[in-house]
Amino acid sequence: MIPTVARAFSNTARSNRHVAVLGANGGIGQPLSLLCKLNNNVTKLSLLDLKGAPGVAADLSHIPTSAQVKGYNPENIGECLKGAEVVIIPAGVPRKPGMTRDDLFNTNASIVRDLVKAVAEHAPKASIQVVSNPVNSTVPIAAEVLKKAGVFDANKLFGVTTLDVTRASTFIAESSGKPTEGPNYTVPVYGGHSGKTILPLISQAQPKTELQKEVHEALVNRIQFGGDEVVKAKDGAGSATLSMAFAAAKFADEFIQGLNGKSVTVPSFVNLNHVAGGKEIQKEIGAELEYFSVPVTLGPNGVEKVSSIGQISDYEKQLFAEALGELQKNIEKGVAFANAN
Ligand code: NAD
Ligand code: LMR
Repeated sequence: MIPTVARAFSNTARSNRHVAVLGANGGIGQPLSLLCKLNNNVTKLSLLDLKGAPGVAADLSHIPTSAQVKGYNPENIGECLKGAEVVIIPAGVPRKPGMTRDDLFNTNASIVRDLVKAVAEHAPKASIQVVSNPVNSTVPIAAEVLKKAGVFDANKLFGVTTLDVTRASTFIAESSGKPTEGPNYTVPVYGGHSGKTILPLISQAQPKTELQKEVHEALVNRIQFGGDEVVKAKDGAGSATLSMAFAAAKFADEFIQGLNGKSVTVPSFVNLNHVAGGKEIQKEIGAELEYFSVPVTLGPNGVEKVSSIGQISDYEKQLFAEALGELQKNIEKGVAFANAN
């Protein structure tokens, strides 16, 4: 699923790409940094955290791959970001059992705001890929900060929803009685990244999959609440880190493939007002939502276009209707925070 990472030790063609990970000493940050170090398309890897990033970088620097890796403390964020083309942000606190992603807002909103301010100043042309929750709000915060700084480019700002797509592939294979076939299934996942706002369209799964109604509904519910499954199992020790590191590394790799001229289409949470095809999606969903996860085609300048939703079942229409109100509130909360602070 991550071709260039899977071939990390082979002599495949390289591109000179500079990736920065902000929050690199965390549960996601460490394995994500490892996966970026294994990606031969990455030649420079800059790691930042409140503390510990130089240690993570020293450790990774002993691996014989192309990326030159260096760790930074916050006072050197400018040096860390200089020349970065891809900035992945997993900085922020994770959930504990009983919490919603929105409960993280009070802590993570200002973390994302301040890091994105620094990106706007030191790497204004970089793609920003936000992992920190609540994604439904942190991406609008990032966009408002970039707008204020005069460097907003909707084609390069993403909320990373790849973990929902990853889960959908895995769980649909299990539901179909073919648990080892996960990577061979694709399910487009629309909407946002929290509970009912996560909208997996099983009717558009490839290969086409017929499931009994109860199995289909249980599958949708498991994809929507997959994050809670991990939070519960970790029992107070945080949320998904390893599968998330995989997902963020996969999305960054797909973005880099696009930069390198290989067109890739994958779902991501983007600004529908400012990407090609976004207004058509708003018409299809019957709401002027500013942000939505949709399949995006990535190219040398980031998003080239977003694909239309097309035919969906009545059950899926109902799921969409249930999601829109909550997603709109999450988006407005992020925009209001960024404009008040
Ligand atoms: P963690 O606590 O293990 O790691 C977070 C790291 O961020 C820590 O090392 C911390 O020092 C660092 N950090 C905090 N503020 C910082 C700042 N201002 N500058 C630089 N670094 C800073 O948490 P985690 O498990 O890695 O999760 C991180 C975030 O990712 C959480 O908000 C979590 O909810 C989110 N997440 C999102 C998805 C998704 O699908 N988008 C999936 C899983 C987790
Ligand atoms: C996930 O989906 O695993 C993440 O958003 C983390 C969480 O809080 O569930």
